[in-house]
Amino acid sequence: MYETILSPMNYGGLTLKNRIIFAPTTMGLPQEELEARLRSIAAGGCAMIILGDVPVTKHGFGPSLFTKKGFAYYQRLAQIVHQEGCKICAQLHQSDSDLKAMLRYLPGLLTKRIDADQLRNLLNQQVGPYITNLPTHKVEQITHSFGPAALRAKEAGFDMVQVHGDRMCGSFSSSVYNSRTDQYGGTPEHRARFAVESIRSIRQYLPDFPIDYKLAVRQENPHYGNAGVLESELPIFVPLLEEAGVTSFHVTLANHSNLSDTIPPFNHPYFHGEGCFLTFCDQVRALTSLPICGVGGLSSPDFVEEQLRSGRIQCAAMSRQLIADPNWPNLVRDGQAAQIHRCIRCNQKCLGGMMTHQGVHCIYERKEST
Ligand SMILES: Cc1cc2nc3c(=O)[nH]c(=O)nc-3n(C[C@H](O)[C@H](O)[C@H](O)COP(=O)(O)O)c2cc1C
Repeated sequence: MYETILSPMNYGGLTLKNRIIFAPTTMGLPQEELEARLRSIAAGGCAMIILGDVPVTKHGFGPSLFTKKGFAYYQRLAQIVHQEGCKICAQLHQSDSDLKAMLRYLPGLLTKRIDADQLRNLLNQQVGPYITNLPTHKVEQITHSFGPAALRAKEAGFDMVQVHGDRMCGSFSSSVYNSRTDQYGGTPEHRARFAVESIRSIRQYLPDFPIDYKLAVRQENPHYGNAGVLESELPIFVPLLEEAGVTSFHVTLANHSNLSDTIPPFNHPYFHGEGCFLTFCDQVRALTSLPICGVGGLSSPDFVEEQLRSGRIQCAAMSRQLIADPNWPNLVRDGQAAQIHRCIRCNQKCLGGMMTHQGVHCIYERKEST
C-alpha cells in the first residue's frame, strides 16, 4: 500500500533505505537528551536524519567541527544514528546574526525588557546592513570554510552534507537584505555567488560527496519570507547551484519573517494545508532533474505516498511529525499506520519549547514518572 514510501532511493549518490527524512531540527536539548531523541528517531525507521545548524567556522554558534570536543560530539551523534541503521547528514550553516548587534541587546535580554521574539525581530533588522557591509575578504573566508567543514563532517561519520540555503546563503541571495554593489550583490547571478562559492568549496575538498541544498524560496502575492530566492529568480539560481555541485534539493519557504510561517501551525492563514510548500517543489522540478525533497506539514501516509508515487517529490522530510511519533516509518511499514500519533501542528511544545528555551518537545510526550 505504501510501496513508494518504503522503496529505496539513490538520493544524490547516497542510497536511502526509504523515502522518509528527518528534517533539520535544532532541538535545544542537553546532550544526553539529544542523543536519546536522535536514537529514537533513527530507530523509528526513517532513512536519514539531517542534523540542523552545524557551524562552518570555529567560532559559530554551537559545537564546532574544528575543536576536539566538538568533533567528538558530532562523531558520537553519527555513531548513534548509524547504530540504528539510519544515515546522517550535517546541515552546514553560517549565521547571519551580527554578533556586535546581539551584544547591544544583551542587557535588555538579561533584564527581560526584550523577549526572544523581540530579539529575533531586532536582529532581523540588522541582517541587511550586516550582509551589505561585510568586507569582501571576510565573505571569501566564510565561503571557503564550507569545504574544510564538509571534510570534517565526513571524517566525523556524516554520510552527506546539506548547505543551509537560508541563514547567510539566504541573506546573500535576497534582494531584501543584500544591497552590495560588488560581485556578491546586485543581479541574481551576483547574489547567488555566495552559495555557489560555498558549494564549490565543498566540491574542491570532496569531489564525490553528496551535497543537498536547502533551497529557501521567497514568495510575493502574498509576501512570505525575506531571505532566500524569489520564485521568479529560481530559473537563474537552480542551474547555478546545480553546476556548482549540488546533488539534490530540499525545498521550502524562506525564513526571516515569522518563524510560524516556515513552521506553520494548523491555523496559519496561508500555509495551513498538508504539504504546504510543495508548490515550490513543482517550480524547482521544472528546472532540474536532480532529486527533490519536500517538507512542510507532511504527516498523512496516504498523502505522502501519493506525492512520492506521482514523482512530484523523491523524498519526504518531516520535522514535527517525527517528533510527535518517531515510529511513523516503522508503523507504515508494518501495516499499522492507524496507530501513528499524528502531528496536529499545534506548535505548542516544539516551536514553543524552542522559543521558551525549554528544548523541543511534543504534547504527546509521556511524562517520565519520578
Ligand atoms: C523546533 C524546530 C527547529 C527547527 N530547526 C531547524 C534548523 O535548525 N534548520 C532548518 O533548516 N530548519 C529547522 N526547522 C524547520 C524544519 O526543518 C521544517 O522545515 C519545518 O518544521 C516544516 O516541516 P514540518 O511541518 O515537518 O515540521 C525547525 C523546525 C522546528 C519545529
